Amino acid sequence: MKATQGECEFFSVKTEKRNAEKLRQWLASKQLLEHNFGTMPSADFIFFPIKRKLLKQEAKELKKIVPSFAINKLLFSPVTSQPQSLKEALRKKLSEKEFSKLVSSFDTLGNIAIIEIPKELEKKEKLIAKALLETNKSIKTVCKKLGAHKGKFRLEPVKIIGGEKKLLATYRESGCVFKIPVGKAFFSPRLSTERMRIAKQIKAGEVIGAFFAGVGPFPIVFAKNSPMEAAFAIELNPIAVKFLDENILLNKVENKVFPVFGDVKKIVPKKFKNFFHRIVMPLPKGAKDFLESAIISAHPKGCIIHFYAFVPAADPYTTTIDLIEKTAKKFGKKTRILHKQQVRAFSKETIQIVIDFEVSGN
Ligand SMILES: C[S@@+](CC[C@H](N)C(=O)[O-])C[C@H]1O[C@@H](n2cnc3c(N)ncnc32)[C@H](O)[C@@H]1O
Repeated sequence: MKATQGECEFFSVKTEKRNAEKLRQWLASKQLLEHNFGTMPSADFIFFPIKRKLLKQEAKELKKIVPSFAINKLLFSPVTSQPQSLKEALRKKLSEKEFSKLVSSFDTLGNIAIIEIPKELEKKEKLIAKALLETNKSIKTVCKKLGAHKGKFRLEPVKIIGGEKKLLATYRESGCVFKIPVGKAFFSPRLSTERMRIAKQIKAGEVIGAFFAGVGPFPIVFAKNSPMEAAFAIELNPIAVKFLDENILLNKVENKVFPVFGDVKKIVPKKFKNFFHRIVMPLPKGAKDFLESAIISAHPKGCIIHFYAFVPAADPYTTTIDLIEKTAKKFGKKTRILHKQQVRAFSKETIQIVIDFEVSGN
Protein backbone atom coordinates (compact mmCIF):
# COMPACT_ATOMS: atom_id res chain seq x y z
CA MET A 1 0.00 0.00 0.00
CA LYS A 2 1.40 3.39 -0.94
CA ALA A 3 1.66 5.87 1.94
CA THR A 4 0.30 9.38 1.38
CA GLN A 5 1.69 12.42 3.25
CA GLY A 6 1.87 11.84 7.02
CA GLU A 7 0.73 8.23 6.91
CA CYS A 8 2.67 5.61 8.92
CA GLU A 9 2.62 1.87 9.10
CA PHE A 10 1.70 0.29 12.45
CA PHE A 11 0.66 -3.05 13.82
CA SER A 12 -3.11 -2.95 14.25
CA VAL A 13 -5.76 -4.91 16.08
CA LYS A 14 -8.92 -5.53 14.08
CA THR A 15 -12.24 -6.45 15.67
CA GLU A 16 -15.97 -6.15 15.05
CA LYS A 17 -17.34 -2.68 15.66
CA ARG A 18 -19.56 -3.94 18.48
CA ASN A 19 -16.39 -4.88 20.43
CA ALA A 20 -14.58 -1.62 19.68
CA GLU A 21 -14.98 0.00 23.09
CA LYS A 22 -13.92 -3.13 25.00
CA LEU A 23 -10.83 -3.44 22.79
CA ARG A 24 -10.00 0.26 23.10
CA GLN A 25 -10.16 0.10 26.90
CA TRP A 26 -7.97 -3.00 27.05
CA LEU A 27 -5.36 -1.50 24.68
CA ALA A 28 -5.37 1.74 26.69
CA SER A 29 -4.88 -0.16 29.98
CA LYS A 30 -1.79 -1.82 28.46
CA GLN A 31 -0.58 1.53 27.07
CA LEU A 32 -0.52 0.01 23.61
CA LEU A 33 -2.66 2.58 21.76
CA GLU A 34 -0.90 4.79 19.22
CA HIS A 35 -2.68 8.03 20.17
CA ASN A 36 -1.23 10.24 17.45
CA PHE A 37 -2.87 8.20 14.69
CA GLY A 38 -6.60 7.65 14.19
CA THR A 39 -8.53 4.37 14.11
CA MET A 40 -9.65 3.06 10.74
CA PRO A 41 -13.26 1.95 10.44
CA SER A 42 -14.68 -0.28 7.68
CA ALA A 43 -18.31 -1.39 7.27
CA ASP A 44 -18.26 -3.94 10.14
CA PHE A 45 -14.79 -3.72 11.63
CA ILE A 46 -12.51 -1.24 13.30
CA PHE A 47 -8.70 -1.20 13.27
CA PHE A 48 -6.72 0.28 16.19
CA PRO A 49 -3.09 1.30 15.56
CA ILE A 50 -0.82 -0.06 18.32
CA LYS A 51 2.72 0.71 19.42
CA ARG A 52 4.05 -2.89 18.98
CA LYS A 53 3.00 -6.42 18.18
CA LEU A 54 1.13 -8.16 21.03
CA LEU A 55 3.10 -10.63 23.15
CA LYS A 56 1.74 -14.18 23.22
CA GLN A 57 0.58 -13.69 26.82
CA GLU A 58 -1.20 -10.45 25.90
CA ALA A 59 -2.96 -12.10 22.96
CA LYS A 60 -4.22 -14.86 25.28
CA GLU A 61 -5.50 -12.26 27.75
CA LEU A 62 -7.24 -10.27 25.01
CA LYS A 63 -8.98 -13.36 23.63
CA LYS A 64 -10.85 -13.62 26.93
CA ILE A 65 -12.18 -10.05 26.54
CA VAL A 66 -12.63 -9.87 22.75
CA PRO A 67 -12.98 -13.40 21.39
CA SER A 68 -12.39 -12.51 17.72
CA PHE A 69 -9.59 -10.20 16.68
CA ALA A 70 -6.74 -10.15 14.18
CA ILE A 71 -3.34 -8.52 14.07
CA ASN A 72 -2.24 -6.85 10.81
CA LYS A 73 0.19 -4.24 9.62
CA LEU A 74 -1.59 -1.22 8.11
CA LEU A 75 -1.10 2.41 7.14
CA PHE A 76 -2.72 4.95 9.48
CA SER A 77 -3.21 8.71 9.10
CA PRO A 78 -2.15 11.11 11.85
CA VAL A 79 -4.83 12.72 14.00
CA THR A 80 -4.99 16.29 12.72
CA SER A 81 -5.81 18.95 15.27
CA GLN A 82 -7.17 22.21 13.79
CA PRO A 83 -4.74 25.13 14.25
CA GLN A 84 -6.14 27.65 16.72
CA SER A 85 -4.32 30.78 15.58
CA LEU A 86 -2.97 32.37 12.42
CA LYS A 87 0.60 31.79 13.66
CA GLU A 88 -0.07 28.13 14.42
CA ALA A 89 -1.68 27.62 11.01
CA LEU A 90 1.29 29.16 9.18
CA ARG A 91 4.23 27.90 11.26
CA LYS A 92 4.93 24.97 8.94
CA LYS A 93 3.78 26.65 5.73
CA LEU A 94 6.23 29.58 5.79
CA SER A 95 10.01 29.48 5.90
CA GLU A 96 11.62 30.60 9.17
CA LYS A 97 12.55 33.94 7.58
CA GLU A 98 9.02 34.48 6.22
CA PHE A 99 7.49 33.45 9.54
CA SER A 100 9.57 36.05 11.39
CA LYS A 101 8.03 38.78 9.16
CA LEU A 102 4.41 37.68 9.71
CA VAL A 103 2.21 40.33 11.38
CA SER A 104 -0.29 38.10 13.12
CA SER A 105 -2.49 40.83 14.60
CA PHE A 106 -5.31 42.25 12.48
CA ASP A 107 -8.35 44.52 12.81
CA THR A 108 -11.84 43.17 12.33
CA LEU A 109 -14.90 45.08 11.23
CA GLY A 110 -17.73 42.58 11.57
CA ASN A 111 -16.98 39.79 9.09
CA ILE A 112 -14.12 41.66 7.43
CA ALA A 113 -10.50 41.33 8.60
CA ILE A 114 -7.87 43.91 7.68
CA ILE A 115 -4.31 42.71 7.94
CA GLU A 116 -0.86 44.10 7.15
CA ILE A 117 1.14 42.00 4.69
CA PRO A 118 4.85 42.92 4.79
CA LYS A 119 6.53 43.25 1.38
CA GLU A 120 8.53 40.05 1.89
CA LEU A 121 5.28 38.08 2.27
CA GLU A 122 3.35 39.49 -0.69
CA LYS A 123 3.70 36.24 -2.64
CA LYS A 124 2.19 34.39 0.32
CA GLU A 125 -0.79 36.72 0.83
CA LYS A 126 -3.38 34.24 -0.47
CA LEU A 127 -1.99 31.54 1.84
CA ILE A 128 -2.14 33.96 4.79
CA ALA A 129 -5.73 34.93 3.94
CA LYS A 130 -6.73 31.25 3.70
CA ALA A 131 -5.16 30.51 7.10
CA LEU A 132 -6.94 33.52 8.61
CA LEU A 133 -10.31 32.35 7.23
CA GLU A 134 -9.69 28.82 8.54
CA THR A 135 -8.73 29.89 12.04
CA ASN A 136 -11.40 32.62 12.46
CA LYS A 137 -14.74 31.22 11.40
CA SER A 138 -16.59 34.53 11.79
CA ILE A 139 -14.33 36.20 9.19
CA LYS A 140 -15.71 35.99 5.65
CA THR A 141 -13.45 38.48 3.82
CA VAL A 142 -9.74 39.20 4.27
CA CYS A 143 -8.25 42.51 3.07
CA LYS A 144 -4.70 43.69 3.12
CA LYS A 145 -3.76 47.27 3.93
CA LEU A 146 -2.30 49.02 0.89
CA GLY A 147 -0.94 51.95 2.87
CA ALA A 148 -1.52 54.33 5.75
CA HIS A 149 -4.67 56.47 6.18
CA LYS A 150 -4.38 59.34 3.75
CA GLY A 151 -6.01 62.43 2.30
CA LYS A 152 -8.49 64.76 3.95
CA PHE A 153 -11.03 61.91 4.31
CA ARG A 154 -8.37 59.79 6.12
CA LEU A 155 -9.08 56.75 3.94
CA GLU A 156 -7.20 53.49 4.36
CA PRO A 157 -6.74 51.83 0.94
CA VAL A 158 -7.34 48.06 1.05
CA LYS A 159 -7.44 45.10 -1.36
CA ILE A 160 -9.37 41.85 -0.92
CA ILE A 161 -6.97 38.89 -0.74
CA GLY A 162 -9.31 36.10 0.32
CA GLY A 163 -12.90 35.04 1.01
CA GLU A 164 -16.05 36.82 -0.16
CA LYS A 165 -15.65 39.81 -2.46
CA LYS A 166 -17.48 42.33 -0.28
CA LEU A 167 -16.37 45.48 1.45
CA LEU A 168 -19.50 46.47 3.34
CA ALA A 169 -19.02 45.67 7.02
CA THR A 170 -21.66 45.40 9.72
CA TYR A 171 -19.92 46.18 12.98
CA ARG A 172 -21.31 46.22 16.53
CA GLU A 173 -20.05 48.34 19.41
CA SER A 174 -21.51 49.42 22.78
CA GLY A 175 -25.09 48.51 21.90
CA CYS A 176 -24.89 50.15 18.46
CA VAL A 177 -24.61 48.74 14.96
CA PHE A 178 -22.71 50.39 12.10
CA LYS A 179 -22.62 49.82 8.36
CA ILE A 180 -19.15 50.74 7.14
CA PRO A 181 -17.94 50.95 3.52
CA VAL A 182 -14.41 49.66 4.13
CA GLY A 183 -11.83 51.75 2.25
CA LYS A 184 -14.35 54.51 1.39
CA ALA A 185 -14.91 56.04 4.84
CA PHE A 186 -12.70 56.15 7.92
CA PHE A 187 -13.49 53.85 10.80
CA SER A 188 -11.37 52.57 13.68
CA PRO A 189 -12.60 49.97 16.17
CA ARG A 190 -9.59 50.91 18.33
CA LEU A 191 -11.38 54.06 19.51
CA SER A 192 -14.27 52.17 21.12
CA THR A 193 -12.85 52.65 24.65
CA GLU A 194 -12.54 56.38 24.02
CA ARG A 195 -16.15 56.62 22.87
CA MET A 196 -17.43 54.99 26.05
CA ARG A 197 -15.01 56.96 28.24
CA ILE A 198 -16.59 60.17 26.93
CA ALA A 199 -20.18 58.81 26.89
CA LYS A 200 -19.92 58.16 30.65
CA GLN A 201 -19.09 61.85 31.28
CA ILE A 202 -22.04 63.28 29.32
CA LYS A 203 -24.75 64.88 31.45
CA ALA A 204 -28.47 65.26 30.75
CA GLY A 205 -29.29 68.13 28.42
CA GLU A 206 -25.85 68.43 26.79
CA VAL A 207 -25.66 69.55 23.17
CA ILE A 208 -22.62 68.03 21.50
CA GLY A 209 -20.54 69.00 18.52
CA ALA A 210 -19.35 65.71 16.96
CA PHE A 211 -16.76 67.14 14.56
CA PHE A 212 -15.20 64.85 11.93
CA ALA A 213 -18.04 62.38 12.49
CA GLY A 214 -17.25 59.78 9.80
CA VAL A 215 -20.02 57.14 9.69
CA GLY A 216 -21.13 58.30 13.15
CA PRO A 217 -19.52 56.13 15.85
CA PHE A 218 -18.94 58.96 18.39
CA PRO A 219 -22.36 60.65 18.28
CA ILE A 220 -24.30 57.38 17.92
CA VAL A 221 -22.49 55.70 20.84
CA PHE A 222 -23.15 58.88 22.87
CA ALA A 223 -26.85 58.89 21.92
CA LYS A 224 -27.27 55.26 22.97
CA ASN A 225 -25.16 55.43 26.13
CA SER A 226 -25.73 58.86 27.69
CA PRO A 227 -28.53 61.27 28.60
CA MET A 228 -27.39 63.85 26.02
CA GLU A 229 -29.91 66.21 24.41
CA ALA A 230 -28.52 66.28 20.86
CA ALA A 231 -25.37 65.80 18.79
CA PHE A 232 -24.57 67.57 15.53
CA ALA A 233 -22.43 65.18 13.48
CA ILE A 234 -20.34 67.18 11.02
CA GLU A 235 -18.54 65.37 8.19
CA LEU A 236 -16.99 66.31 4.85
CA ASN A 237 -16.77 62.93 3.05
CA PRO A 238 -20.06 62.46 1.14
CA ILE A 239 -19.83 58.66 1.27
CA ALA A 240 -19.28 58.76 5.04
CA VAL A 241 -22.30 61.08 5.37
CA LYS A 242 -24.47 58.63 3.37
CA PHE A 243 -23.58 55.91 5.89
CA LEU A 244 -23.88 58.32 8.81
CA ASP A 245 -27.52 58.91 7.71
CA GLU A 246 -28.08 55.16 7.42
CA ASN A 247 -26.47 54.41 10.80
CA ILE A 248 -28.57 57.07 12.53
CA LEU A 249 -31.72 55.32 11.27
CA LEU A 250 -30.36 51.84 11.97
CA ASN A 251 -29.77 52.81 15.60
CA LYS A 252 -33.05 54.75 15.87
CA VAL A 253 -31.35 57.94 17.14
CA GLU A 254 -32.77 60.28 14.49
CA ASN A 255 -34.33 62.46 17.22
CA LYS A 256 -30.90 62.96 18.83
CA VAL A 257 -28.18 62.83 16.17
CA PHE A 258 -28.33 65.36 13.35
CA PRO A 259 -26.02 64.89 10.34
CA VAL A 260 -24.38 67.96 8.85
CA PHE A 261 -22.56 67.58 5.53
CA GLY A 262 -19.68 70.01 5.10
CA ASP A 263 -16.43 71.51 6.34
CA VAL A 264 -16.17 72.12 10.11
CA LYS A 265 -14.16 75.26 9.43
CA LYS A 266 -16.87 76.80 7.22
CA ILE A 267 -20.02 75.55 8.95
CA VAL A 268 -19.21 75.76 12.65
CA PRO A 269 -18.34 79.49 13.06
CA LYS A 270 -21.41 80.42 10.96
CA LYS A 271 -24.08 78.10 12.36
CA PHE A 272 -22.92 77.04 15.82
CA LYS A 273 -21.44 80.15 17.51
CA ASN A 274 -21.54 79.84 21.37
CA PHE A 275 -23.50 76.64 20.95
CA PHE A 276 -21.97 73.40 22.26
CA HIS A 277 -21.64 72.07 25.82
CA ARG A 278 -19.18 69.44 24.64
CA ILE A 279 -17.12 68.99 21.47
CA VAL A 280 -15.29 65.90 20.30
CA MET A 281 -12.51 66.37 17.75
CA PRO A 282 -11.29 62.95 16.51
CA LEU A 283 -9.01 64.14 13.72
CA PRO A 284 -5.58 63.50 15.24
CA LYS A 285 -3.79 64.53 12.04
CA GLY A 286 -4.77 68.16 11.74
CA ALA A 287 -7.36 68.95 14.45
CA LYS A 288 -5.18 71.86 15.58
CA ASP A 289 -6.27 73.70 12.41
CA PHE A 290 -9.85 73.53 13.72
CA LEU A 291 -9.22 74.68 17.30
CA GLU A 292 -10.48 78.19 16.52
CA SER A 293 -13.76 76.79 15.18
CA ALA A 294 -14.15 74.70 18.34
CA ILE A 295 -13.48 77.64 20.65
CA ILE A 296 -15.89 79.92 18.73
CA SER A 297 -18.65 77.29 19.04
CA ALA A 298 -18.08 76.58 22.76
CA HIS A 299 -20.98 77.59 25.01
CA PRO A 300 -19.93 80.68 27.06
CA LYS A 301 -21.09 79.04 30.30
CA GLY A 302 -18.59 76.24 29.74
CA CYS A 303 -17.78 73.60 27.18
CA ILE A 304 -15.63 70.49 27.44
CA ILE A 305 -13.49 69.75 24.39
CA HIS A 306 -11.95 66.34 23.70
CA PHE A 307 -9.00 67.09 21.47
CA TYR A 308 -7.02 64.33 19.70
CA ALA A 309 -3.55 64.78 18.21
CA PHE A 310 -0.53 62.90 16.92
CA VAL A 311 2.43 64.15 18.94
CA PRO A 312 6.09 63.29 19.60
CA ALA A 313 6.32 60.51 22.19
CA ALA A 314 9.29 62.28 23.80
CA ASP A 315 7.27 65.39 24.76
CA PRO A 316 3.61 64.70 24.11
CA TYR A 317 1.75 67.57 25.75
CA THR A 318 3.73 70.84 25.99
CA THR A 319 3.18 72.17 22.44
CA THR A 320 -0.48 71.14 22.22
CA ILE A 321 -1.46 72.59 25.61
CA ASP A 322 0.38 75.78 24.68
CA LEU A 323 -1.60 76.02 21.44
CA ILE A 324 -4.92 75.37 23.23
CA GLU A 325 -4.22 78.13 25.76
CA LYS A 326 -3.05 80.64 23.15
CA THR A 327 -6.03 80.00 20.86
CA ALA A 328 -8.55 80.40 23.71
CA LYS A 329 -6.84 83.59 24.86
CA LYS A 330 -7.15 85.03 21.36
CA PHE A 331 -10.94 84.85 21.78
CA GLY A 332 -10.85 86.10 25.39
CA LYS A 333 -11.70 82.67 26.79
CA LYS A 334 -10.25 80.74 29.71
CA THR A 335 -9.13 77.10 29.61
CA ARG A 336 -8.66 74.43 32.24
CA ILE A 337 -6.97 71.12 31.41
CA LEU A 338 -9.09 68.32 32.86
CA HIS A 339 -7.37 65.20 31.63
CA LYS A 340 -4.62 64.04 29.28
CA GLN A 341 -3.59 60.56 28.19
CA GLN A 342 -2.05 58.48 25.45
CA VAL A 343 -4.73 56.81 23.31
CA ARG A 344 -2.38 54.53 21.37
CA ALA A 345 1.15 54.31 20.05
CA PHE A 346 1.33 55.21 16.36
CA SER A 347 5.03 54.54 15.79
CA LYS A 348 8.18 54.54 17.91
CA GLU A 349 8.41 58.32 17.78
CA THR A 350 4.74 59.29 17.50
CA ILE A 351 1.77 58.64 19.77
CA GLN A 352 -1.89 59.61 19.64
CA ILE A 353 -3.10 61.55 22.65
CA VAL A 354 -6.33 63.02 23.91
CA ILE A 355 -6.55 66.20 25.96
CA ASP A 356 -9.86 67.02 27.66
CA PHE A 357 -10.13 70.70 28.51
CA GLU A 358 -12.81 73.10 29.60
CA VAL A 359 -13.20 76.42 27.84
CA SER A 360 -15.38 79.19 29.27
CA GLY A 361 -16.13 82.90 28.92
CA ASN A 362 -17.37 85.10 26.09
C1 LIG B 1 -9.98 60.27 11.71
S1 LIG B 1 -11.53 60.29 10.92
C2 LIG B 1 -12.65 60.06 12.28
C3 LIG B 1 -14.00 59.57 11.84
C4 LIG B 1 -14.92 59.10 12.97
N1 LIG B 1 -15.09 60.13 13.96
C5 LIG B 1 -14.44 57.81 13.57
O1 LIG B 1 -13.92 57.84 14.69
O2 LIG B 1 -14.60 56.77 12.93
C6 LIG B 1 -11.69 62.00 10.52
C7 LIG B 1 -12.91 62.31 9.71
O3 LIG B 1 -12.96 63.72 9.52
C8 LIG B 1 -13.42 64.01 8.23
N2 LIG B 1 -12.96 65.38 7.90
C9 LIG B 1 -11.72 65.76 7.51
N3 LIG B 1 -11.67 67.10 7.37
C10 LIG B 1 -12.91 67.57 7.67
C11 LIG B 1 -13.47 68.86 7.71
N4 LIG B 1 -12.75 69.94 7.39
N5 LIG B 1 -14.76 68.99 8.08
C12 LIG B 1 -15.50 67.89 8.40
N6 LIG B 1 -15.01 66.64 8.37
C13 LIG B 1 -13.73 66.47 8.02
C14 LIG B 1 -12.83 62.91 7.37
O4 LIG B 1 -13.54 62.73 6.17
C15 LIG B 1 -12.94 61.70 8.33
O5 LIG B 1 -14.13 61.02 8.13
